[in-house]
Amino acid sequence: MKTVLLLGAGSDIARATAHEYAKRGDRVVLASRSIEDLEKTASDIEHRRGAEATAVRFDALDYESHQAFYDALDPKPDVVVVAFGYLGEQRKGQAEFDEARRIIETNYTGAVSICEIVAADFEKRGEGTIVGIASVAGDRGRQSNYLYGSSKAAFDAYLSGLRNRLFKAGAHVATVKPGFVRTKMTEGMPLPGPVTAEPERVARAVLKAEGRRKNVVYVKGVWRQIMGIVKAIPEPVFKRLGM
Ligand SMILES: NC(=O)c1ccc[n+]([C@@H]2O[C@H](COP(=O)([O-])OP(=O)(O)OC[C@H]3O[C@@H](n4cnc5c(N)ncnc54)[C@H](OP(=O)(O)O)[C@@H]3O)[C@@H](O)[C@H]2O)c1
Repeated sequence: MKTVLLLGAGSDIARATAHEYAKRGDRVVLASRSIEDLEKTASDIEHRRGAEATAVRFDALDYESHQAFYDALDPKPDVVVVAFGYLGEQRKGQAEFDEARRIIETNYTGAVSICEIVAADFEKRGEGTIVGIASVAGDRGRQSNYLYGSSKAAFDAYLSGLRNRLFKAGAHVATVKPGFVRTKMTEGMPLPGPVTAEPERVARAVLKAEGRRKNVVYVKGVWRQIMGIVKAIPEPVFKRLGM
């Protein structure tokens, strides 16, 4: 039995992932800001899956609290899924730096702060897996969401470097890159059906990436081809596309 820590566990993707792990009998620790919601999810998981589930408070932006948060975990996790994220509003971020900062700090700085603490523990123990949920939005900056996209690109590059570092210690880092997913984050957006995934699909990709020690996984696979094409467009053409 593994202990799986889900950071940003209120997220629809994290919740679906917690259910998938619990189905296998693993112990799940749900960490996020809305503790009352998490406690409900934890008791639902215990009730439906018969697996141990607990809720703990975690705020990705409260950097000072991260070490004490991790030190208090007993037992320490075997798997850490970094699922918190903030899409924000691109136009608002262009006009108000506070919004831009919240996007950058939630998706990148907060993730680095907690991942460095987890990495130090995994390195010492010589085991453990971090699964970071990045995004295809990080594969190329576009005018419609470059604040979010660049923060995910930074997270993607960070995970790559961390994977490189932890490999020697025997610990693993997997990067999961969803395209569109039907969650709270995308509520009300027109999502193109064939390239949109349900949170359960992302959850299965997380378990697969973790279990098979995959490095970078696209959910759905077609996104690898789509982003391959998007990345191949020469910059003089790309800047005229208004994407
Ligand atoms: N949905 C998509 O189309 C899509 C595509 C690619 C990648 N992703 C990524 O997948 C991950 C999960 O997204 P989702 O779609 O499941 O989103 P979601 O349902 O909107 O959940 C996002 C979660 O992040 C948490 N969060 C935000 N700021 C936080 C903070 N400071 N501390 C702790 N938790 C915080 C929120 O917690 P509260 O519940 O406390 O607000 C929320 O539960 C994110 O990293 C997202 O960027 C999503």
